[in-house]
Amino acid sequence: MGSAAEWSPSSWQSKPIKQVVTYDDQTAVSAALSKLSSLPPIVTPTEIIKLKSSLRDAALGKSFLLQGGDCAELFSYCADDPINAKIKLLLQMSLVLIWGSNKPIIRIGRMAGQYAKPRSSPTEIVDGKEMPSFRGDILNGFDPAHRHVDPDRLVTAYFHSATTLNYIRGQLSSGIADLHNPLDWDLGHVQDEGLQKKYSQIVSNISESLRFMRTIGADTSGQLQTVDLYTSHEGLVLEYEQSLTRRLKHPVGYQSSLSNDGRGWYNTSAHFIWIGDRTRQIDGGHVEYFRGIENPIGIKVGPSMKNDELVELLDIVNPNKEIGKVTLITRYGKDKVESMLGPHIEAVKKSGHVVVWQCDPMHGNTHSTPTGIKTRSFNSIFSELSSALKVHKEHSSFLGGMHLELTGDAVTECTGGSEGLAEEDLSLNYTTYCDPRLNEKQALELAFLVAGHYREDNAL
Ligand code: PEP
Ligand code: CO
Repeated sequence: MGSAAEWSPSSWQSKPIKQVVTYDDQTAVSAALSKLSSLPPIVTPTEIIKLKSSLRDAALGKSFLLQGGDCAELFSYCADDPINAKIKLLLQMSLVLIWGSNKPIIRIGRMAGQYAKPRSSPTEIVDGKEMPSFRGDILNGFDPAHRHVDPDRLVTAYFHSATTLNYIRGQLSSGIADLHNPLDWDLGHVQDEGLQKKYSQIVSNISESLRFMRTIGADTSGQLQTVDLYTSHEGLVLEYEQSLTRRLKHPVGYQSSLSNDGRGWYNTSAHFIWIGDRTRQIDGGHVEYFRGIENPIGIKVGPSMKNDELVELLDIVNPNKEIGKVTLITRYGKDKVESMLGPHIEAVKKSGHVVVWQCDPMHGNTHSTPTGIKTRSFNSIFSELSSALKVHKEHSSFLGGMHLELTGDAVTECTGGSEGLAEEDLSLNYTTYCDPRLNEKQALELAFLVAGHYREDNAL
């Protein structure tokens, strides 16, 4: 294994790699990567290190991480309505979680760059014809006519990412998250009277707290006017990530564990990137790339992860055991979480690493309906989350966050929740280009349930 000194933004190229991209036109690839290398950072070291320091709090149980957004973000989602809807939803969910957990919430969108998708097979059958699989807008198009990999899309991805983040920044600084404004908490769809009462109570508690803060003048520091919202995506297409990896000055006061000359390698494509469950091989190119950057990173942890493999991974990407550097995003499935999470928690504890334990209750709970529609049930999603909360407690650990696929739009992709979506309803508004997402009501309801769980737990 190479030492940290031998790392460079391109050292991953000498390692085996999964989910390889084959480009036909090498000249076009070189032109795209050289263009990317000349463009300014999308995010800055100051923001990246601020997030890493907040994640340290989450690792220590002092705050909670809410991460959510599309499975596959399309370039066409770079438009005001979908962006606004997602910002508002993440804000509302975070208020509910603050109320429930009594902790500050760190918000990260799977947004402004979630354009690359790992696929189980390089080809798929569409209308009886075999064609290359859709790999995300950064590589090819969903439309059967655009399935060839087009290197120009790497540059197009940068501009959509930058434009999305520019709009998010603009909206946040213009008051979209200003808590002086009333929020729309429409709970009309909740038919169960008990639940309707419970959720309304939570909303009135939140509104009451906000009113109280305004009355006593606790908002004069500007704290109620805006919030932080960070960006993230799966770091899958390493040629893209490499081109946006820059040697930059550390923020004042930051002590890097990777370099001591006042500068470090920052991935400037997003604040946080993660390694997918399919590309986390110890000797692989993705792990090699991730070990050299200053950003906080995530690692997806699926049911095939061995205990010692997990510790070995942590030792490689975080040899100095920096707290907050790594978020382990567990996604076992509701039936496996009970048996797998405990041993992982114990193995990590014994290793001396302190991580953010985040539950992704989506990716282990996907199934197809008899008519072949990919879906997830709300109950399975909540079941994995509740089990994760319980197992952490049993092991004197704690859940540091949740990772969700969601959208602010009224889609019908997951079944269940208070709207009572059934499998027959899925075709009403099924618009995802990859995995099924929670719609606005389902996502908010999940936040209510997790918040309720914390409240009941604290009351014991
Ligand atoms: C994803 O988060 O969309 C994904 C592909 O997840 P995983 O790597 O956990 O399968
Ligand atoms: Co997904």
